[in-house]
Amino acid sequence: MKTINIALLGFGTVGSGVAETIKRNSQMMAEQLGCQLKITYVLVRHPDKYKNVPLLEGVHLTSSFEEIMADPDIGIVVEVMGGIHPAKEYIFEALNHKMSVVSANKDVVALFGPEIMHTAMENHVNFSCEASVGGGIPILRPLHDSLAANEIESIVGIVNGTTNFILSSMDEEGVSYSDALRVAQKKGFAEADPTNDVCGYDAARKLAILASIGFRANVTFDDVLVEGIEKISQKDVQYASEMGYAIKLLAVGTRQDNGIALNVYPAFVPRTHPLASVKGSYNAIYVTGNIVDDVMFYGRGAGSLPTASAVMADVISTAKHIMNGSTGTGMMLTETKRIPFYSSLKLKNSYYFRLIVDDVTGVLSQIASAYADHDISIKEVVQKSRFEDAAELMIITQDTPRENIIQVEKALQVLPCMRQVANIVRVMNDDRE
Ligand code: HSE
Repeated sequence: MKTINIALLGFGTVGSGVAETIKRNSQMMAEQLGCQLKITYVLVRHPDKYKNVPLLEGVHLTSSFEEIMADPDIGIVVEVMGGIHPAKEYIFEALNHKMSVVSANKDVVALFGPEIMHTAMENHVNFSCEASVGGGIPILRPLHDSLAANEIESIVGIVNGTTNFILSSMDEEGVSYSDALRVAQKKGFAEADPTNDVCGYDAARKLAILASIGFRANVTFDDVLVEGIEKISQKDVQYASEMGYAIKLLAVGTRQDNGIALNVYPAFVPRTHPLASVKGSYNAIYVTGNIVDDVMFYGRGAGSLPTASAVMADVISTAKHIMNGSTGTGMMLTETKRIPFYSSLKLKNSYYFRLIVDDVTGVLSQIASAYADHDISIKEVVQKSRFEDAAELMIITQDTPRENIIQVEKALQVLPCMRQVANIVRVMNDDRE
């Protein structure tokens, strides 16, 4: 039986999951493919550290990428190092050496996706990156292939497990943002520097990849407007819950009349919507197509074996292409055309405001006038707590363009009765029938 040799770049959480998957399921995969998959090289910085790892028995450990490139028998390079450098350079070099590449690297794909794909096609080899979004959830290939008959209208994802874990803990255990972050760090979900996750950058990279495929356009990380969850307090989570919502960090891509809009932001999600029940480190991507209507993809968004499941799906698919001589065809993320971006200032949403105001006669009418002056219709008002001589007001608006919300925030801030505009958060509508 033919053997396809694999070089694994990196042996961290995902790399060890890949080795474990090959060990556990090699016979099943060989029967499917009619060939064996074998890890021949593992690239690590300090090979000595790994020489007694049972999963790596018989594997050549090296710290030299050039050694791997010099071996003409390598069929597939699996890049699971993460980070941009040197992963990006290694990916291009492997493709230029006519080796197919599978990568889990959202940072690189979100910035250089189309360039990488074109390099792969020029070299008649594959590049695939299913694991770069949603960990073990099959989403990129289904979006590209299974939903190919659709004009995609919207993509709404919970694609960052760390923030979802934090927000779920705040909701279910009543803990503060900083305590929830600390637990996430202790459990290994959040990194010591959590900026990428909590500020929404990780979700923005994944949205850029989803949008490139779903909207068939060249979209990069820089095209996404990002807000993180740092300003969400326990009070917001508690009031959201009392009003029938869960707060989630959403990655939202929508097709508008004249362009697409791409945003990452925390939002109140109605408890009736399936995305509200995505808890802890799970991810989900809710896609609406003009033919299929709504579909949701749900599963583990990270972790060793779930992510390895997606990496290995790409390896198996690449191996099939190698076996039938069709590498370099049927690729995703090949669009180079830019499409217009819809101004986020015009984008309409319902919004939640939490206001701390003087508890004196006439305050509600002053506030109501500010909203009316900016053409904003109020859907719901709740006065929650009164303390000393202040009151806390929660206001939910009807759908309103972002620019009116920015203007009313300024007007509210200068009202004599206003102590603090404590938070403003978007509210998702559940408009499913
Ligand atoms: N930091 C990511 C998350 C890991 O929290 O979802 C997977 O990309």
